[in-house]
Amino acid sequence: METVQKTDSFVMNTYARKGISFEKGSGCRLWDENGKEYLDFLAGIAVCGLGHCHPDVTRALSAQAETLVHVSNLFYTRPASDLAQRLCENSFADKVFFSNSGAEANEAAIKLARRYFQKKGETNRNRIITMKQSFHGRTMATLSATGQEKIKQGFEPLLPGFVHVPFNDMDAPRKEMDDDVCAVMLEPVQGEGGVIPAAPGYLEAVRKLCDEKRAPLIFDEVQTGMGRCGRLFAHQAYNVAPDIMTLAKALGNGLPIGAMLASEKAAQGFDKGSHASTFGGTPLVAAAALAVLDIVADESFLARVRKTGDYLKEKLYALQKQSNAVKEIRGLGLLVGMEIEADADEIVEKCLKKGFILNAIQGKIIRFAPPLIVTKEEIDQLADVLSDLLDR
Ligand SMILES: Cc1ncc(COP(=O)(O)O)c(C=O)c1O
Repeated sequence: METVQKTDSFVMNTYARKGISFEKGSGCRLWDENGKEYLDFLAGIAVCGLGHCHPDVTRALSAQAETLVHVSNLFYTRPASDLAQRLCENSFADKVFFSNSGAEANEAAIKLARRYFQKKGETNRNRIITMKQSFHGRTMATLSATGQEKIKQGFEPLLPGFVHVPFNDMDAPRKEMDDDVCAVMLEPVQGEGGVIPAAPGYLEAVRKLCDEKRAPLIFDEVQTGMGRCGRLFAHQAYNVAPDIMTLAKALGNGLPIGAMLASEKAAQGFDKGSHASTFGGTPLVAAAALAVLDIVADESFLARVRKTGDYLKEKLYALQKQSNAVKEIRGLGLLVGMEIEADADEIVEKCLKKGFILNAIQGKIIRFAPPLIVTKEEIDQLADVLSDLLDR
């Protein structure tokens, strides 16, 4: 049986997959089972920041796979300790909890914020303010935190204790900031919601409000972190630090690892036994993430991401001049969205046929999240194809 048919027969029907089965990848390129080559402008949804099968990550993985893969968190292992130290040294944080995905990192953040106040005896403080259009994951708590109604349908009752306010509305969080609030949680650039960056001054305003009310500020950087937005973490572009931050996606360049980082103070919410994960921070995934950090934490690498992101936007602005169908271009670094008046799914489908992988979100936005190593020439190739399609 062919891969597509076999998958559709035996794997649960939860994904709207394109009818292509990929076999191999290298850098920004992918090859399907028929040998057709594709240029990847999605990077496994902002995951393969260093491109497919980056040799440094592959080397680190091979060496670690031959040494030690898993022992459980009943013991210590060097790769996880090194990775936690490196993440703290490169961020506001003092402590790290390792998970296996973005949703699990957010679950940990939600649990930490709640327990932080429970432990202090402020047991009424359990409500979390999150944003409309946000996306935080598909587990029950992170789905409850998510601000998109359509993906919640059928799973009620959701977890109580979340209130959603409009993103980028300076006054909205203050209106909900009662004595029962234990945290504000948001994405510095909303990803799944349509690639919407925080407006100037917005994160500062939320930070100030959280400080006034002693409520930890949680940044979900699952999609925006690890260099995607031209800084190691997107919030660094805004000069506003959170108390808790979550990472996943690009942290392992495709290996399943997530992390919840916290300041010393916020981390006090957890004690021995408060939270756990069997696989969290295994030597194998930690080795991959260390190899990723070696590259993306470098300022010259990040400067190049910013430059390439500017170049991509320039090319898209040129398309906007040429076609009335392009409404808005927005984003930060190499996370860019182009809102169009045409059917985004149809454009993405046509690009795919021509060998370019993109992604449509919310029906009208084309999302660009290429490997961070994408070149100007590769961007030119895509821009030519888009120009052609939008003309028609
Ligand atoms: C901002 C954000 N948070 C959380 C998640 C969930 O991550 P995962 O799919 O690894 O659980 C995603 C995934 O798209 C995301 O973009």
